[in-house]
Amino acid sequence: MTEPIRPAGSAHEFPGGPALFRLDPRVAHLNHGSFGAVPVPVQEAQAELRAEVHADPDAFFIAVPDRLAGARNRIAGHLGADPDGIAFIANATEGANLALDAVPLADGDEILVTDHGYGTVVAAAARRAPVTTVALDPHLPDEDAVRETVLAALTPRTRVAVLDHVSSPTARIIASPRLLADLRARGVTTVVDGAHALGMLADPLAGGADFWFGNLHKWGYAPSGSAVLAVAPQYRRRIRALVPSWEDQHGFPRSVENRATADYTGWLAAPDGLDLLERLDAAKVRAHNSALAAHGAALLAELPGLTALPHGEGLAMRTLRLPAGVAETPERARELRERIAAEQGIRVLTWPWPGGGGIRVCGQIYNRPEEYERLAAVLPSYLGRS
Ligand SMILES: Cc1ncc(COP(=O)(O)O)c(C=O)c1O
Repeated sequence: MTEPIRPAGSAHEFPGGPALFRLDPRVAHLNHGSFGAVPVPVQEAQAELRAEVHADPDAFFIAVPDRLAGARNRIAGHLGADPDGIAFIANATEGANLALDAVPLADGDEILVTDHGYGTVVAAAARRAPVTTVALDPHLPDEDAVRETVLAALTPRTRVAVLDHVSSPTARIIASPRLLADLRARGVTTVVDGAHALGMLADPLAGGADFWFGNLHKWGYAPSGSAVLAVAPQYRRRIRALVPSWEDQHGFPRSVENRATADYTGWLAAPDGLDLLERLDAAKVRAHNSALAAHGAALLAELPGLTALPHGEGLAMRTLRLPAGVAETPERARELRERIAAEQGIRVLTWPWPGGGGIRVCGQIYNRPEEYERLAAVLPSYLGRS
């Protein structure tokens, strides 16, 4: 095989990056976007907190509300957020449910979602009101085309729009600041799923959504089960914790964060993840991750039948359309992903779409260009039919 051409100085190994993780070295982990991965220093910080819990549970749990407030202040500092306007939550799905419960909905009101939306988040919307699903062609050329398609789908009954900041299957920016401003001007409450935005985008809260939630455990190097919900001032009093809390009298954010006897160690260690990202130089990490994802996508785009999809600038995920007949249903897409993992030791996301599913590759500081080259070498043998 001829040596693939690498853009000089862009797709390379991040110095010291792989050593920061304890990932199985036999596996090419090209799917950071699904579950993240926790760097060793953050794992150790969490392990120390767990040891504290086991050494003196009373002392630990009595101090939890104040320690959470301290950790939340550190996260707010990283995000440039009002510390009273964000709360720790477990994951994006929880954020969607908390947000949607805080929006007054009347009979006949509708919630707008897109067909790129994440399943559990869309399901949270559908539990509360009839949803209008906007079909976004994955080939739409840019953010403006996405914005126009979403606006064209509004109806007089649209009360809320639930939009991905960065979509999971297609890695597109959907909730652009301009779209959010247009929705606001039309009186539509905006709920933004920023599951991938925190850590991947430099200023994830810039759009000023009414509700924004994002995972710390994907691109923020935080322990699993850590996320934040940011709420605009006019809605904070309406947020009600999903289960009663001993801190209910304090309202948001304490009522949401304090949930009786739970494992708080992930949230308390989460600021260490964002500190690490800063120490590594967040801009450098983003540029590196994006260049690696681009390297992978460029290699895959050379394979017969694969088509690169438009992407947002600087994102650490890239997607391509697979040939017609491949991964068109959820079952087929899952089967393809599992076969590539089991037989090749390569982790990627494959997603179903009528007329040909898609594949997503991610870039992270533990990845190396050779891993994408390995994927490009074996993928054609999986594309006959699946
Ligand atoms: C866009 C998007 N929203 C929500 C989620 C769900 O995240 P969680 O499992 O943290 O609820 C994901 C997970 O990959 C996602 O990609």
